Amino acid sequence: MINSLLAMATAFVTAAAALKLDVSSTTGAASSPQMYGIMFEDINYSGDGGLYAELIRNRAFQGTSTSVSPFTAVGDARLSLASTQPLSSALPKSLAVAGGSGTIGFANPGWWGIDVKIQPYTGSFYVRGDYTGKFTASFQSITLKETLASVDIESSATAAGWTQHNFTLTPTKAAGNANNTFSITYSASGVKGGSLNFNLISVFPPTYKNRPNGMRKDLMEALAEMKPSLLRFPGGNNMEGDSPPNYWKWQNTIGPLRDRPGRLGTWSYHNTDGLGLVEYMQWCEDLNMEPLLATFAGLYLGGSVISQSALKPYVDDFLNELEFLMGDATTTKYGAVRASNLGHSRPWKVNFVEIGNEDNLNGGTSSYNSYRFSMFYNAVKAKYPNMTIIASMETKGLPGDAAQDYHTYNKPNAMIGDFSKFDKYDRKHKVIVGEYANINKDSASNIWNNRPLYPWWRGSVAEAVLAIGAERNSDVVIGLTYAPLFCNLNSHQWTPDLIAYTADPAQTVLSTSHVVIKLLSSVRITNLLTTTGDPPKPVYYAAGINTSTGSRILKAAVYDNKGAAVPMIVTFAGVVAGTSATLTVLTAPGGENSANAVGASAVKTEVKTLTAGSGGVFAYSLPDLSVSVLEVKGVSKV
Ligand SMILES: *[C@@H]1O[C@H](CO)[C@@H](O)[C@H](O)[C@H]1NC(C)=O
Ligand SMILES: *[C@@H]1O[C@H](CO)[C@@H](O)[C@H](O)[C@H]1NC(C)=O
Ligand SMILES: *[C@@H]1O[C@H](CO)[C@@H](O)[C@H](O)[C@H]1NC(C)=O
Ligand SMILES: *[C@@H]1O[C@H](CO)[C@@H](O)[C@H](O)[C@H]1NC(C)=O
Ligand SMILES: *[C@@H]1O[C@H](CO)[C@@H](O)[C@H](O)[C@H]1NC(C)=O
Repeated sequence: MINSLLAMATAFVTAAAALKLDVSSTTGAASSPQMYGIMFEDINYSGDGGLYAELIRNRAFQGTSTSVSPFTAVGDARLSLASTQPLSSALPKSLAVAGGSGTIGFANPGWWGIDVKIQPYTGSFYVRGDYTGKFTASFQSITLKETLASVDIESSATAAGWTQHNFTLTPTKAAGNANNTFSITYSASGVKGGSLNFNLISVFPPTYKNRPNGMRKDLMEALAEMKPSLLRFPGGNNMEGDSPPNYWKWQNTIGPLRDRPGRLGTWSYHNTDGLGLVEYMQWCEDLNMEPLLATFAGLYLGGSVISQSALKPYVDDFLNELEFLMGDATTTKYGAVRASNLGHSRPWKVNFVEIGNEDNLNGGTSSYNSYRFSMFYNAVKAKYPNMTIIASMETKGLPGDAAQDYHTYNKPNAMIGDFSKFDKYDRKHKVIVGEYANINKDSASNIWNNRPLYPWWRGSVAEAVLAIGAERNSDVVIGLTYAPLFCNLNSHQWTPDLIAYTADPAQTVLSTSHVVIKLLSSVRITNLLTTTGDPPKPVYYAAGINTSTGSRILKAAVYDNKGAAVPMIVTFAGVVAGTSATLTVLTAPGGENSANAVGASAVKTEVKTLTAGSGGVFAYSLPDLSVSVLEVKGVSKV
């Protein structure tokens, strides 16, 4: 019977043999619940200027810059950077606005534009100086040459100290594009003493789940679509800093914004740290993700290493950070800081930590293997015996149950070689694929040069092969996180990235890789099922069950079958004739090089209902270069 179906199926595509697969009902190893995750660091303005929803660029004049750029004067005001009478010790500089007559002030163009819609914007600024009158906060359209929103704020400014002014700005008209500026203006005649100083000039649109100091809504929605179950943060190379003392310090990223100095990140610009440790934890809560908290482990990206005798304070500081997140609100020192200073008495839970990032780079391997990893591992394990502690590279001789991190930036044909990589793992030490992406075409002679701007279909299918290979080994693979997550189209030396955007949400690009991850992540295998039948090639597959729903699942990617479709003959033990299943197939009609881009969508999604024929056989066909999920619902749970 199955043979005759096989004959029928092969008749459609004579060139290709059918792939025959019988899936058992014996539940095998439990899959990692964190299989599909995301990884984030502020790279190329993907935090500030990206996910972090602040609209004002250089809002607090942080860093070493001596310029007030991109602020510009309104009227005949003169702008300069002041460093006397600071707002706080964290924010020593401010904007001095002097001179002029009539209406004066300053404007800010945002992060390559500002999205202005009919919605309430929440703003705030600090002033120091003697001014009687009102301030006007407004949005101006450059393109339309008109004011889109304006609100007056009565001044409470004095020369004696800094006063905060809050406002809400609700446009009556949407801008149509992001070519808008924000400005604060006032009457020069109300100023005594020649000038006013301004600082922490901030405007937020409505944020995801209306979090104050929160995240950009559309970008969070793009992440939520992928149903990620893990967040690896805060880096990445950006966590390390290039040179002392610029590693990511958790204490500097918490509390009121006026107490956050920011830091020189690894990617040549100053991070505001408005997106700080607490915001990361809230991000995990909002998308229901497990935090994977990484710590600086004594290696700066530039190669400078903290010596063994000097490392202990860094280890202690990481324990303090964990206590800040997880400690009891009354009985622990840093738990009390969380509760009293931040009003967050309920502890968070952190089950995964990573010690450093790519500590094999720039001469870091020997110190990492000899003392850096073990000092962190031993200290964390002693206090948190159940914590999964991940080394930032693949390495031999790991202690105890330490896990490791595999990163791969590759070309599609080479990435296919990783399909069976995890079959060979010894099972003693788990692994996370903490960064992966295809970054250049197979034809590229140098993988790093002339990379495509966007993920493209062939690369995304090869990534699916890697993911499916990982999922077949999801007893030992904790999960995978594509990197980098975001591409700011106005500043993008590193490409390709998973999601590209500008200030204008209408230009957001959810890449072909995003579409693939979204499909693979949306149907979760809780336990693997063993299969008998044909070897997994050119159909790379993983079979499993979701024990909470009873669904039987087959995920498959067809890679390089010379353009021919592959007929599939699949049975699941216990599934009888007449049972229906949902088959979702992704293809790219425009070919292997097609990409999702601004205004262009390359991926075709087909959803079909299949019915099992006699013997419970599902017979269907998968096109070459496709990614698919077959889900058989309504089967008894085991
Ligand atoms: C963007 O990131 C790359 C690293 O991928 C870095 O070399 C470059 O300096 C960054 N540029 C900006 C403007 O952030
Ligand atoms: C806004 O428009 C001006 C004038 O047309 C142009 O020079 C500028 O590049 C535009 N800026 C943005 C962010 O689109
Ligand atoms: C401005 O708003 C913030 C946040 O809601 C609040 O903490 C602060 O007290 C307000 N300041 C003034 C002067 O109203
Ligand atoms: C660690 O896990 C075990 C087994 O699940 C549990 O009994 C124990 O309470 C956990 N310990 C801590 C410190 O969470
Ligand atoms: C599968 O199982 C997980 C974990 O029990 C559950 O959260 C999920 O919603 C289930 N269904 C699908 C379709 O993945």
